[in-house]
Amino acid sequence: MNHFDITDGVLHAEQVSLAEIAREVGTPVYVYSRGTIARHARVFREALAGVGRVHIAFAVKANPNLAVLRLLAKEGYGADVVSEGEMRRALAAGIPAQEVVFSGVGKTTRELVAALEAGIGQFNLESEEEGHELADIAEARGLVASCALRVNPDVDAKTHAKISTGKAENKFGVAYDRAAGIYARLAARPGLMMRGLAVHIGSQITDLEPSRQAFAKMGDLMRAIRADGFAVTHMDLGGGLGVPYKTTDVLPGPAEYGAMVADVTKDWDVTVMFEPGRVIVGNAGLLVTEVVRVKQGTGAPFVVVDAAMNDLARPAMYDAWHDFDAVAPSGETMVANIVGPICESSDTFAMGRTIDVVKAGDLAVFRTAGAYGATMANTYNSRALVPEVMVDGDKWALVAARIEPSTILAAEQVPDWLA
Ligand code: LLP
Repeated sequence: MNHFDITDGVLHAEQVSLAEIAREVGTPVYVYSRGTIARHARVFREALAGVGRVHIAFAVKANPNLAVLRLLAKEGYGADVVSEGEMRRALAAGIPAQEVVFSGVGKTTRELVAALEAGIGQFNLESEEEGHELADIAEARGLVASCALRVNPDVDAKTHAKISTGKAENKFGVAYDRAAGIYARLAARPGLMMRGLAVHIGSQITDLEPSRQAFAKMGDLMRAIRADGFAVTHMDLGGGLGVPYKTTDVLPGPAEYGAMVADVTKDWDVTVMFEPGRVIVGNAGLLVTEVVRVKQGTGAPFVVVDAAMNDLARPAMYDAWHDFDAVAPSGETMVANIVGPICESSDTFAMGRTIDVVKAGDLAVFRTAGAYGATMANTYNSRALVPEVMVDGDKWALVAARIEPSTILAAEQVPDWLA
C-alpha cells in the first residue's frame, strides 16, 4: 500500500503532483510519502501485537535521511545503526541513545568509544574479539556496555547471494556451536552486561520458513545459555522482511511475519527486538527522472533517462527490478530498454520491458525506491548527489539538497608540487 496515485492524469505523491516537484527541484529526485512511511511503521508494530515485549529499531542504512528518521522517532521507533555516522544521524533525529542498537561487523575502536560514551542501548557483538575490545574500553572508563552476541545460524535465507548474511560462510556473527562458550567468557567481563542474542539472516526475504528455522535455533541456544546460568533478557531477530517490487509479486506481509514470530517466541520470556528497514520505507519512495531521449537500437529502442546507476544502484548491483511508469501516461505502451547516461553497460535499469510510451522530456518514475535508494547513491561520472523530497498531504519539502559536482570539486586540491 502506498500513496502514489494518478490524479487528473498525473502521478501524485499524496496530493502533490510529481510534475510540480520535478519543475521546482529538477530531476533526478527521490520523493517520499510521509503518510506511507507512518502507515508502514504502524502496520509493522501492530503485526507484532501478539509477541509480548517488543523493541523496534529501524535499520538506518535503508534510508538514513534525517527527516525520515525524525518521522520514525515520532512513531516510537529506535534505530539500528552500523557506523558512527548513522548513530549521529539517529541521535540528531531525536531517537534516544537508549533506543539505539549498534550492529556491524567492523566497528572501529573510535566507533566503540563514541557509542559507549553516547550511552547507546545495545551493542550487537559480531565476534569474541570485538567483545573483549569493548570490555577493555568500558572497564578503562568505569562504564558497562549492554550487549547481545550476534550468532550465525547457518540458515540459507533464499534471497540474492549479495544480501544473504546467515550462512556459515558469510562474515557475520559467531559460529552457532561456539556461541555459548563465547557468551560465557564475555559475561565474565565487568565492562559488559551480556543480555541477549542477535540474528539477521538476510534481506528481501520472501519465504518465512528460513527465518522460522533460524529463530527456532536461536531459541534452543538461548535455553542452553540460560541452563549454563546466564541471563538472556533480549533476543534481536534482525530485519529482512521483503516487499513487492512488481505489482504481481505475492509475498508474506507483516501480519504473517508477526504471527510466525509470536509462535516461535511464545515461551521465551524476553524483549524481542526487530531491525526492519526495507519493509518500512521501500514502497514509500520513488525516484523521479526525465527522459533525455529515445534512441533507436538494433532491437528495442533505448529510453535514456537522466537517472543513473549512481542514483539507484540496485539494478546494477543485484539485477533488481523497479517498476517504471510515466508520470503522465497516455495509456499506450511500448517495449524498450531503460538505461542511464553512465559510461558502462551495467547502467541499465531494464531490458525489453513493456512500459508506458515515453518521449524526450517526459517524466517517469522508478517505484519502490525508498529503501537502499538515495542511501546508496554516489557521484560516479562526476554527477550530482541526488536530492530528496518528502510529501505530507498537500505540502512538500526538500529534505536533502542536491550536492552539485562543483561542491565536490571544491573539496579537492592540486598539491603545490603539481601546480
Ligand atoms: N539488521 C541488519 C544487521 C542488517 O544487516 C540489515 C540489512 C537490516 C537489519 C535491515 O534489513 P531489511 O529489513 O532492510 O531487509 N542494499 C541491499 C540490502 C542490504 C541489506 C543489508 N542489511 C539492497 O538494496 O537490496
